[in-house]
Amino acid sequence: MCGIVGFTGAQNAAPILLEGLKKLEYRGYDSAGIAVMNEQKITVQKVTGRIANLCEKTRDGLDIPGTTGIGHTRWATHGAPTEENAHPHMSNDGKFAVVHNGIIENYMSLREELIRDGYHFESETDTEVIVHLIEMFYRGDVREALIRTTNRLRGSYALGVICSEEPGKIYAVRESSPLILGIGLGENFFASDVTALVNHTRNVIYLEDGEFAELSKESIRIFDCTGQTVSRKATRILWDVQAAEKGGYEHFMLKEIMEQPGAVKATIAPRIRDGRVFFEELGLSSDEIQNIRKIIITACGSAYYAGCAGKYAIEKLCRIPVVVELASELRYSDPIIDGHTLLIVISQSGETADTIAALKECKNRGARSLAIVNVVGSSVAKLADYTIYTWAGPEIAVATTKGYTTQVSVLYMLAVYLADKMGLIAGREKQLIHSLQALPRQIQQAFDLNSGIPALAKKYHGSKSIFFIGRNTDYAIALEGALKLKEISYLHAEAYAAGELKHGTIALIEEHQPVVALCCNRSIMEKTLSNIVEVKSRGAEVLALTFRNNQKILSVADDLMFIPDVDALFSAVVEIVPLQLLAYYVARENGCDIDKPKNLAKSVTVE
Ligand code: G6P
Repeated sequence: MCGIVGFTGAQNAAPILLEGLKKLEYRGYDSAGIAVMNEQKITVQKVTGRIANLCEKTRDGLDIPGTTGIGHTRWATHGAPTEENAHPHMSNDGKFAVVHNGIIENYMSLREELIRDGYHFESETDTEVIVHLIEMFYRGDVREALIRTTNRLRGSYALGVICSEEPGKIYAVRESSPLILGIGLGENFFASDVTALVNHTRNVIYLEDGEFAELSKESIRIFDCTGQTVSRKATRILWDVQAAEKGGYEHFMLKEIMEQPGAVKATIAPRIRDGRVFFEELGLSSDEIQNIRKIIITACGSAYYAGCAGKYAIEKLCRIPVVVELASELRYSDPIIDGHTLLIVISQSGETADTIAALKECKNRGARSLAIVNVVGSSVAKLADYTIYTWAGPEIAVATTKGYTTQVSVLYMLAVYLADKMGLIAGREKQLIHSLQALPRQIQQAFDLNSGIPALAKKYHGSKSIFFIGRNTDYAIALEGALKLKEISYLHAEAYAAGELKHGTIALIEEHQPVVALCCNRSIMEKTLSNIVEVKSRGAEVLALTFRNNQKILSVADDLMFIPDVDALFSAVVEIVPLQLLAYYVARENGCDIDKPKNLAKSVTVE
């Protein structure tokens, strides 16, 4: 995830910025840059790859003197990881440099407007619109220019800004993206997380959404969007650096679980405009979409299970048959493919060997290919005809969480998009879009509803094995829930289609056998309920996942986890959350190495 730092003081800024950026490396990045102001001159240096390259390029910062500056590590979203796309970005008049963490949702229309007004763009980034807007609105008052600029922006942003007409000052702006001010002695800082600050100061101020800050070496002034001064108390940071990297969470996995409302919002919100889904990335014409006869989804691991969950929404809305195949199987299966087949490849890393091979195989046979990928410029993204990025930010824990939910979110949006192009959802667009937009909030509600999960983990962590059952979409989600538990807690966990129990698995149900029963699909709830009764009557302990106040389930289950009311068509993004938490807390009870489970890798680049 992008990281930003800013410094103003009496010392040379560049070495301090470089050191701060190194502290942000753990967040993941693919390019970096700094801008340093010396009197009235701003110098920018950028590199692709590691911060070490930037240190080498600037002789550890010695080549760029100046006591004020901003820096950035970039995780590519809009545009490949190149030097042009790396931050800081400069205004055309050379007066402003800007670094940005977040996503500007309306950058396309702003970019067109600015080009019409004569501004010249040097990158493909969404960020560059910000610096040109600042130049456009600047009339000698940076504060005012920032307020007017942010009035035009939609999305999330933490910004760092310097202006050559105000030597010694750095500006910070926050909207839905973290930004922390560090208070030093005769020097002040900002950064997108405290890891970059703790070597210099433990006294910080957390900026809030909609707030701006003007920092000089002696003072910090905070103001709101009307320019009114705001007073904020400083907080003393007590975390050690390791805890700070994890945002105060014990593990990256928990941090990433908690990041899901933001990650899903970043993936969905920019693609919804005027009550419709837009995928500029997808170059298929309406005629080509009408001609799709079959969709094959292929992937590995959780990405495969994301495909299993997405299949239901695509089939329901588009009435196109969807086959979900493991990439390791598809590549050797002599697949039946023609020009009417759309292949959807899902991969967080974009580097999974089997997924790449399956994509190549299907392309050779004439399939149109669409990749859903998190890492910009990865192999899958390069190979596929079209790529839709998930914008989850980097995932550090081996077991994916926000990777999965953002992949499913894209599949849901794709279902609506294709169905819209096929003329199949006339009159329902508003309700479907509303359901998609509600997902980030509903994930948050799922957190709030499940504070009892750590206690459930204490009860179930010693089990020899745990079965997961569900039907339809609940079954697809059970598959991912069981995988999460098995990967990180090493408990034996298997998911079964609830209707299949009587064909074998029920033989394994005995006294106190834990069964996690997913009952979130109202259309098929009664059927799952019968299966719960079947396993209960053989002595199973049932931990049910269902809607709040679902009286029928409340009366039969031993324990409960909850989701808020969600549109059944799009439920996986919310329904998986309690299961991720269950896996996490069971693994924690068992003392497992949660972020790095044994024998597993984040990205499997060999067959
Ligand atoms: C590994 C990871 C999983 C991931 C799978 C596919 O097994 O541990 O979390 O789902 O690879 O990875 P991809 O990067 O292609 O999504």
